[in-house]
Order: sequence, then C-alpha cells, then structure tokens
Amino acid sequence: MAKILDGVSRTFGEFLLIPRLTKKNQSSGTINLAASIAASNRESAPRFDLNIPIVSAAMQSVTDSNLAIALAREGGLGFIYCSQDVKSQAAMVAQVKSHKAGFVSSDTNTLVGESLEDVVALMKKTGHSTVPVTSDGTATGRLLGIITDQDFWEHEDNLKAPVEHYMTKIDNVIFGEEGLSLREANSLLRKYKKNCLPVVDKNGNLSSLVFKKDYEDHMRHPRELLDNSKRLCVGAALNTRDYKLRAPALVEAGADVLCFDSSDGLSEFQKEGLNWIKRKYGEEIILGGGNIVSAEGFDYLVSGLGLDFVKVGIGGGSICITREQKGVGRGQASALLEVVKRRDAYLEETGRYIPVCSDGGLSNDTQIALALAMGADFVMMGRYFAMTDESPSPKTSFNGQVFKSYWGEGTRRAQNWERYTDGSDSRELLFEEGVDAYVPYVGGVSEALASTIQKIKATMINVGASDLSEFKQNAVLTLVSEQSIVEAGTSSVFQFTRNSELDAASWGENS
Ligand code: IMP
Repeated sequence: MAKILDGVSRTFGEFLLIPRLTKKNQSSGTINLAASIAASNRESAPRFDLNIPIVSAAMQSVTDSNLAIALAREGGLGFIYCSQDVKSQAAMVAQVKSHKAGFVSSDTNTLVGESLEDVVALMKKTGHSTVPVTSDGTATGRLLGIITDQDFWEHEDNLKAPVEHYMTKIDNVIFGEEGLSLREANSLLRKYKKNCLPVVDKNGNLSSLVFKKDYEDHMRHPRELLDNSKRLCVGAALNTRDYKLRAPALVEAGADVLCFDSSDGLSEFQKEGLNWIKRKYGEEIILGGGNIVSAEGFDYLVSGLGLDFVKVGIGGGSICITREQKGVGRGQASALLEVVKRRDAYLEETGRYIPVCSDGGLSNDTQIALALAMGADFVMMGRYFAMTDESPSPKTSFNGQVFKSYWGEGTRRAQNWERYTDGSDSRELLFEEGVDAYVPYVGGVSEALASTIQKIKATMINVGASDLSEFKQNAVLTLVSEQSIVEAGTSSVFQFTRNSELDAASWGENS
C-alpha cells in the first residue's frame, strides 16, 4: 500500500515570521545579503558567493544575455536557458562575459572627409554626441581625431565643411593604450576633465571608449557580481540529454555556474550527468542539480561526486501545471523545510554545507523573505523577471495596460527538449506541463530589485539578523489560519490607491 506522509503539504502563504529583537546598530546599510551557491567545508572560505540571494530562471521567456547582464549588475545571477542549440546558448554566455562594464565599442564613427551635416545626422540617429574619426569610419580603424557636439554650432557653422576642420586632431586627443585598467582609464578622465576617453591599440587603431557617465553608473551598482577578471558572472542550464556536448561549450564560453534544469532531479540520468561534469571539471565549475522536494532527493543527488547546490520545487511555478498533469509535486514550503532539515543534518554528519535554492512559486517579496528564513540560501524566479524590461519577450498593450508574455519551459512553445520527457529518447511532447501566459510589465530589473531588497532587509531587521545565516538561525515561524490570512489584508476600509504602482502590478496577489 502507498505510504502517506504525516502532515499537510504547505505553501509560503501559510506562514508568518514572529519578530525577534531588533538591534540598534542595524540599518539597511549594515545588512549583508551575500549568499552561498558553492558547496563548502565547515572551515573553508566560500569559493563563490552571490551578492544578493536571487537568481533568474533558465527559461526562454526569462533569461537571455540581456537579463543576465542586468541581474549580475545588481549582484544576482542569471541562468541562460538550455532549450536552444548549444551554439546559441554558448554565444549568450559569451555575450555576458564580454560585456565589459566601462569599455564599450564605439557605434558612432565618421571619416575626415564626411561633412558636418552627416555628423549631425549621425548624432541624431544614434543619440551619441562623441564621434571618433577613424581612417575607415569604423569602430576599429586608425584613430585620427574626435568630434563632439561641443566642436561646432549646428545653426551657425557651415555644415557643408568637412569633419577635418572641426575635429580635435589625434595629436591633441587624450587617449589610453589598450591593456589599461578601468581604474586607470577613469583616472585619465578625471585628470584631464574629459567625458570620454578613446582607447587605442599599439598600432593606433581604436579599440574602445570609456565614458565618465559609465563610471557614475558603475558607482550606482556597487553589488555587481564579478569574476576574478572583473567580468560579470553568468550561469547556464543543462539538460540530461546532451550535457557532454553542452557543458564543455558553456565552460569554454565562460559560464561560472552550471545547473541541470529538470522538473524532476531524482533521476539516474541526472546523477550520471552530475558525475560526468564533476569528474571532468572538479572544483573549476560550480554545479547545481534538481529539482527535488524531499530528503530522499537530497541524499540521492549529494551522494554523487559532489554537487554544489540543489534546487527545490516541483509544481509551484506560476506557469506550471505539473501537479495537474501528473499529480506530482509538493507544497513549496514543505518541500523546502524538509530538504533544509536534511541539508543541516548532512552538514553535522559530514562537515559539508550544500546550499539550497528555492525555485518557483514565489508570488511576492514576503515569500522571498520567508524562503530565506526557512533556510534557502537563494531563490530562483521566473515570473518576477519575465515582467521586467530586460526579459526577452516583447511588450504588448491590452486595455491600456502593458504586458509581457511569459511561457513555461514545458510548453510546446518552448519546444522543450528533455526535461518533461520520461528520459527515453523520444523528443515528442505528448502533453504540456506549463502554460503560455502574460504578466504585467513593471519596468527595469534594477528598480524592481531595489524595492524587493529593501523589503527583505526590513524583514531581516525585524528578526534581528545582520546576514542570511543569522536570518535562518533567528527565524521563528508560525502557521496561520485562513482567518489570519484575511486579517493580514486590510479590513473595513476603503482604499482608492494601494501599494506603489510597481508592487500592485508585479506582486498583486496579496492586495
Ligand atoms: P515562477 O518564478 O513561479 O514563475 O517559477 C519559475 C520556475 O518554474 C522555473 O525556475 C522552473 O523551475 C519552473 N518551470 C519553468 N517552466 C515550467 C513549465 O513549463 N512547467 C512547470 N514548471 C516550470
């Protein structure tokens, strides 16, 4: 006879945190949100930490290079989806790694013989007012001078005159030599009071531009997640079918973290894959597995050659219909609590700490905080990021409101490859496990995260925690009755506006 577990399968919405002592020395500026993603031994220093405990889902409608760049700039990590061919996934990874904050390729260039009129038109077209003048008019030609909108008066000067007459000639241009660091480039900008520094190679060819405004932008992103070479970090997903081809291509492209993307990680296919990758790369790559919802799943995956983190969650995703279609899954809170308990026992037994990611089903900022309080080291979200400017899907307007499309990896649209098959060789998708939907558009990743992070920190202060590990230790949770859930909303009052526009649009369920 089937075994029936004691207790009910619970979700985050059924819990609340009890406040603990708030300390005088705590403020949003003193809270540390660094989060483990790499397995570590009790005494060893972490190999790699996230700067915020948030990663984006490996989904076609969520994480391409654009979103991964935006998230890494905020301190989190984007996982580039694997439901595409190996080459294009590796290209997306490479694009994130080559996004050199600070050094940009010039997209507005001209020739000495062009007229001022052409330059004015070019400036209007690209919106850029600093134009390198190169031998062949390209971004890599020999640098002959620079012309900016400060060098001429559009309505006074002779627009038929050639650029040559108005540009600052190379002899008078302050430039940097290729190989200089961003810090050195910024010092030159500061010393010579310039807004733009061209960087040239040893043959005098233009290689990039450094702008003062980018330095200021960089200062506004103090949490950027960078590798040892100061490149943005990026994760990438794998499937169990072609990892022997895909993993080497992703590592070669510069992926910092790899993770099997599967709705059910308690599988021999995944264990083989994890072992194959660990045998090949050892500690060189951070490797995640999942998804699991039980201690059994945890034990099975960690008993391999050493994975770094596990993802928890089956059936909770906002676009997910796995539970309906297959009757498989578990309430996200129950799943997380069981895996975290087993993880902590495993730490006691072996001295090895395995970070846990809570994946899917988070529908407001409170639930992110609850997941972290329950012991998740970080959370993975799809819908949250699908709603932002930087996600790959286009915006659509409906009834005066702006939406973005968001579809599951288990939909026909995503042409899912392996994860929703039974692991056999058949690629045919006989039924779907996800839906194709729309989500409200909320603006940029940076603004969305600013509000979320502020709220997580405020919750941590309520329980007297200065970092995520203290947050878990201090957290005391209570189950709430249906009546308490009603009480948690407003009652017996009329409100004409509630929440900020961002909150209402993005995480509206609790309103
Ligand atoms: P969300 O943050 O609630 O939108 O959930 C995102 C998570 O849902 C992803 O990280 C995946 O684990 C999961 N997921 C993605 N696509 C599908 C699908 O088609 N069916 C079921 N789960 C999915």
